[in-house]
Amino acid sequence: MRRITIFDTTLRDGEQCPGASLTPPQKLEIARQLARLGVDVIEGGFPIASPGDREAVKMIAQQVKGPTIAALARSLQADIDAAAAALAPAKKKRIHVFLATSPIHRKFKLRKAQAEILRQAVWAVAYAKKYAKDVEFSPEDASRTEPEFLYQVLEEVIRAGATTVNIPDTVGFAIPDQFGPLIKGITENVANIEDAVISVHCHNDLGLSVPNSLAAIANGAGQVECTVNGIGERAGNASLEEIVMTLKIRKDYFQATTGIDTTQIIKTSKLVSALTGISVQPNKAIVGGNAFRHESGIHQDGMLKHRATYEIMRPQDVGLGGSQLVLGKLSGRHAFAKRLGALGFRLSKSDVDRAFERFKVLADKKKEVFDEDLTAIVEDELPAAQETYKLVYVHTTSGSDTVPTATIRLAKEGKEVQDAACGDGPVDACYKTIDRLTHVSPELVDYALQAVTKGKDALGEVVVKLRYQGVEVAGRGASTDIIEASAKAYLSAVNKLVSSSTRRAYLSRRQALHP
Ligand code: KIV
Ligand code: ZN
Repeated sequence: MRRITIFDTTLRDGEQCPGASLTPPQKLEIARQLARLGVDVIEGGFPIASPGDREAVKMIAQQVKGPTIAALARSLQADIDAAAAALAPAKKKRIHVFLATSPIHRKFKLRKAQAEILRQAVWAVAYAKKYAKDVEFSPEDASRTEPEFLYQVLEEVIRAGATTVNIPDTVGFAIPDQFGPLIKGITENVANIEDAVISVHCHNDLGLSVPNSLAAIANGAGQVECTVNGIGERAGNASLEEIVMTLKIRKDYFQATTGIDTTQIIKTSKLVSALTGISVQPNKAIVGGNAFRHESGIHQDGMLKHRATYEIMRPQDVGLGGSQLVLGKLSGRHAFAKRLGALGFRLSKSDVDRAFERFKVLADKKKEVFDEDLTAIVEDELPAAQETYKLVYVHTTSGSDTVPTATIRLAKEGKEVQDAACGDGPVDACYKTIDRLTHVSPELVDYALQAVTKGKDALGEVVVKLRYQGVEVAGRGASTDIIEASAKAYLSAVNKLVSSSTRRAYLSRRQALHP
């Protein structure tokens, strides 16, 4: 097994992600978490670029123990001096110098010939070496550099003291079948390559940053540069969590390990997302909200029979509580009953069947049925079956020029009764109609409506409090239609009022409290 060095650049290249900006204390907080995650190197910033970066690198160098702390510098004296000053307090420090080597960068950006580039790169490494034993050199845009020139630059900078040579795919142009052989070519054509670690730094412009990094590892790279959640310049950098979990899950193939405590992955991802303000797409591998959620009935059934049927890694391995079977219209009775059990409901088969029918109706209207929806369904549906009145039908009319009217049909002991009434609004009209049908006219003491779940198709829950002949009761009703939820809540409270056992229990409790 080879041990791959994880070089985290979330705080440097990651922060170059459009829209992300971190204060020095925020960078310190992330750096502390990266240390808990177990990264080998933390690139804290680019000190010459801003006073904030200088301060952040300094704070991290002073306070974060464990990983090597790195800072970026162009191949210029002022940059290297600034990096060295910021890194001064670090126990283990690395100066990371870079200089573009590709023809397009040489011609248009730097206006320098190969010989000048070579000279400057060697000078920069030698100069950085005065401050730190550990010096990394990056030939920027290496993947678009002529391989022969690249080999020459690498050999010279290693001779000047570079301990790591990093091969950036700066613009995300490489493809794995070429990038892997490029790394192999370096191992075969750079005479002193044994004196340095080969690193890779891949951008994600074509969505290939992780495959390219893995191809490089398979071909001899000993370090990968990556970011949490894959954030970074433009389309981002290779994602730390994807590389680390691929190495872990496909150890059989890569024969390589890392020092990462994978159970810290989710925590780190959430912290980076919260502090940078860059949210993680739901279908993102490893850390996306859907990464361990199963929606289809066939998959859910398979998962319940054996987790490995549809999961190649355990959610606990990345720091999640467990996988989730998302209840929706494709879910089967097996997953539904299991979830009810997990929620603490012990139901008979017929109760489960009845609740499942309600669930299916709701799932047709709603993309995702949450635990709160299920609780509302079960609590709403099952007691109603034993109650005096059951709501069969509710219809209301209302509008700015219409008198609000409700028509309601109730079932009582197998017989149906129907009536209609007007009110101040559709809910009031429903309550007046129910009063007429049940011959009970309670006082409405409280009415509260809330969305149980999120979205336009959310399940609404109504809770009412009624007072009648000295007895106070609460009732609850849930539906995607708030008028229906209101009618159900009212009727469930009325059912309690007409039940003599409720009255007896209420009166004896009141007697106990106020003898
Ligand atoms: O993408 C790149 O080339 C870089 C270098 C500075 C390593 O970020
Ligand atoms: Zn980069």
